[in-house]
Amino acid sequence: MFDRTIIITGGAGFIGSHVVRLFVNKYPNYKIVNLDKLTYAGNLDNLKDIEDKPNYKFVKMDICDFEGVLKLMQQEHVDGIIHLAAESHVDRSIKDPFTFAQTNVMGTLSLLQAAKTYWESLPEKFEGKRFYHISTDEVYGALQMTHPEGIEPPFTTKASSGKHHLAYGEKFFTEDLKYQPHSPYSASKAGSDHFVRAFHDTYGMPTIVTNCSNNYGPYQFPEKLIPLFINNIRHRKPLPVYGKGENVRDWLYVVDHARAIDIIFHKGTIAETYNIGGFNEWKNIDIIKVLINTVDRLLGRPEGADMDLITYVTDRAGHDLRYAIDSTKLQRELGWEPSLQFEEGIEKTVKWYLDNQAWVDNVTSGEYQKYYDSMYRNR
Ligand code: NAD
Ligand code: TYD
Repeated sequence: MFDRTIIITGGAGFIGSHVVRLFVNKYPNYKIVNLDKLTYAGNLDNLKDIEDKPNYKFVKMDICDFEGVLKLMQQEHVDGIIHLAAESHVDRSIKDPFTFAQTNVMGTLSLLQAAKTYWESLPEKFEGKRFYHISTDEVYGALQMTHPEGIEPPFTTKASSGKHHLAYGEKFFTEDLKYQPHSPYSASKAGSDHFVRAFHDTYGMPTIVTNCSNNYGPYQFPEKLIPLFINNIRHRKPLPVYGKGENVRDWLYVVDHARAIDIIFHKGTIAETYNIGGFNEWKNIDIIKVLINTVDRLLGRPEGADMDLITYVTDRAGHDLRYAIDSTKLQRELGWEPSLQFEEGIEKTVKWYLDNQAWVDNVTSGEYQKYYDSMYRNR
């Protein structure tokens, strides 16, 4: 009945839900199986609009459950895997690194081994199969904020794609950089990336890895900077800015990441790595000011009225200074480009959170709220 069956792991999370939505809507001839453990970060409300589609199925399962995953692959005749399930928040990884090693490293290994076991049992083996692992730019470590001629950042620079953009340093993350993760989160993602490549090099598994910059947009759990701060501004709660707010992140609208995943899943070359990012570097403090102005304006408050919510707190341990992705390879080889300008994406995102307070209240209630309180009570 279906041309192919793809498991998307972590499909109830932030990015995963956008990938599931895109695939379910765009490919009615594919069966999409969303495999998710539903941790605090997974929420099936994220997929209400597509949950009744005939080509969608949800399975509550832990990626570490080797037998369960293997059985599911056999039952569903799975030929593609897009792997997003992970523990994803740096601050949590600092408090609890074991969970990150378990899910991100052991879980990825378990999933690889299940796919290998199933695909090797078929007459055609790896032919027509694909194991696509979603990773992060954080595995590359941190970049400096320097200019060869001592010019103060940000400055205009030309990407190897030929386009001009603002940058806070002269170096960028390229696919050939060595891995230098600093946080338990990025170390666990680096470990999982190494296992994925090892499965290609050792067993010939058809793998692809992509490393994307920070995502923002609807359905992001409000412990990450952008949704947390939008919600706090709305409720006039303090905005805990780590250190001096000078750290730089490279932001991409989540739907553009999902679009890249679609293109790479279908057209990417096996065993390759692609960086995903939109050359969009921002200092945290500058983003925070944009958020305050936007929330204030949309709520009919005087723009900037809530600047006094900015509260500088103790810096995050091992806080990476700057991330900046060079996605030239993806743009040049596969023709992907971000569809949204940042200003447009932020406006849409702030509107979404303000219009969906029930979603925010739901995910920030109960157990999560206790964690949130313990994290910030003493700051
Ligand atoms: P998220 O925390 O919002 O969602 C993670 C999802 O994985 C949740 O639905 C959760 O229930 C599920 N999950 C966790 N452990 C599981 C397990 N053991 N078995 C099955 N499901 C499990 O994360 P996100 O921000 O959507 O990130 C998705 C992926 O993209 C991650 O691999 C992350 O490393 C990567 N990534 C994220 C960003 C970003 O800015 N958020 C940037 C680049 C890469
Ligand atoms: P975050 O959204 O946690 O993403 P990541 O750590 O993966 O980049 O944080 C983005 C930036 O915002 C990062 O430099 C840390 C900073 N930050 C704060 O200053 N305060 C906060 O409360 C949070 C959650 C993040």
